[in-house]
Amino acid sequence: MTVAARATSGFSSEYGGPPAVRWAAPGRVNLIGEHTDYNAGFVLPFALPHRTAVAASLVDSPSWTVWSEQTGDRISFGPDELTPGRLTGWVSYVAGVVWALRSAGYQVPGARLAVASDIPFGAGLSSSAALECAVLSALVDLGGLDLPVADRPALAQRAENDFVGMPCGIMDQSAATLCQAGHVLFLDCRSLAAEQIPCDLAGAGLAILVIDTRAAHELVDGEYAARRTACEAAAETLGLPALRDLTETELPAALPRLADEVTRRRVRHVVTENQRVLATVALLTAGRPDEIGPLLTASHASLRDDFEVTVPELDTAVEAALAAGAYGARMTGGGFGGCVIALTAVSAAPRIAEAVEDAFAASGFTAPVTFVAAPSAGAAAE
Ligand code: GLA
Repeated sequence: MTVAARATSGFSSEYGGPPAVRWAAPGRVNLIGEHTDYNAGFVLPFALPHRTAVAASLVDSPSWTVWSEQTGDRISFGPDELTPGRLTGWVSYVAGVVWALRSAGYQVPGARLAVASDIPFGAGLSSSAALECAVLSALVDLGGLDLPVADRPALAQRAENDFVGMPCGIMDQSAATLCQAGHVLFLDCRSLAAEQIPCDLAGAGLAILVIDTRAAHELVDGEYAARRTACEAAAETLGLPALRDLTETELPAALPRLADEVTRRRVRHVVTENQRVLATVALLTAGRPDEIGPLLTASHASLRDDFEVTVPELDTAVEAALAAGAYGARMTGGGFGGCVIALTAVSAAPRIAEAVEDAFAASGFTAPVTFVAAPSAGAAAE
C-alpha cells in the first residue's frame, strides 16, 4: 500500500468515512551546502521518493486530532495548548503549524488528521519538515486559505523555530515544498530565489547512494544551536549582516579579526561551502554531473575538520565509499549522525554499499541502511 493509501485507511478506521483532502510531502537529502542556510547562503537539496502523507477532514470546532500510523497514538489539542512549550514529541510539529498559521492571521479550520510516513525517522532526512509541510498543505487546502506556495516554507520553519524550539534554517521546509522530480533545488536562503536545476544522474550513468548510518541524530540539542550562534556572532564581529557576505577572496583578511581558532574554522567552512555550492551548480548546469564528486568530498572534509559536526560513523561511511570507488561522498543534513550520500556509477552502487557495510561491521557499528535515490517531487495533493 502506498503511504497516501495508508493515511487514508488510517483515517477511515480512526474517524470513519473518507478524508476530504490528502497531501504528501517528501524527505530530502542535501546534495551540497550544509550549515549555510541560516547564514543566508546557498543550498542544493533534492526531494526523496520517501513521503509523509496526511489525510484530513474538517471538524466544526477549533480543535485538532491527529493519529499517527508510526506510534498508533491519537492526540488532540485545542487553542489552549497552542503555546510554545506546551506540547512535545511528534504532535508539536503538527500543533506548531496550526500555531504558526494562526499567528500569521489565518483562520485555521478545526480538523481530524491521519499521518503515515515512509521517511526513516531521526535519520536526518527531514521527516519533521515533511510532516510540517504536509500538514500545512492539508490545512491550507481544507480551509481554503490564501497562502501562496512560495510563502509556505517560511511559515513551516517558523513552526519549528518558535513552537518546537529547533533553530533550523529554511532548507528542509523549502525542499519539502518546492522540489521537482528530476531537479535539484538551488536556493538562495537570503532572497529565497529558487531555481530548479535539471539533474539527470541516471542519464549520465550515475546514482546517489544514501547511507543511513543509524547513528543517533538529535538536532533539538545544543550543538546545532551552538553552531548557529557562533556563526551569527562571527558575522557581527566582522560587521556583516551574515557570513554569506564574506567571499573566499576576503577570507584571509577576515580570519585574523576573529577571536579564536574555532570561530575561524567555523567561518571558513561556511564561506568555502557557499563556493562549493556555486561550483556544483555550474557543473550541473554545464551537463557535467560526473565532475561534482571532489566538491562533495571537500564539503565533507570541511564539515569534519572545520565545522566539526561529523561522528565516526559518518567519516567511516565516507572513507569506505571513496575507497570502494565512489566519485565523491559527504554527510548530508545537520550532522552528529544521520546520513551520508555517495556519488557512484550506477553499476558500482551495490558494491559500494557492501563495502560500507563491511567497514561498519569491522568497526562494530550498527549495520547501515542503504538505498539509491533519484530527485523526486515536492509536496502535492495525492
Ligand atoms: C538541518 C536544518 C537545516 C540545515 C541543515 C544543515 O537539516 O534543519 O535548516 O541547517 O541542518 O545544513
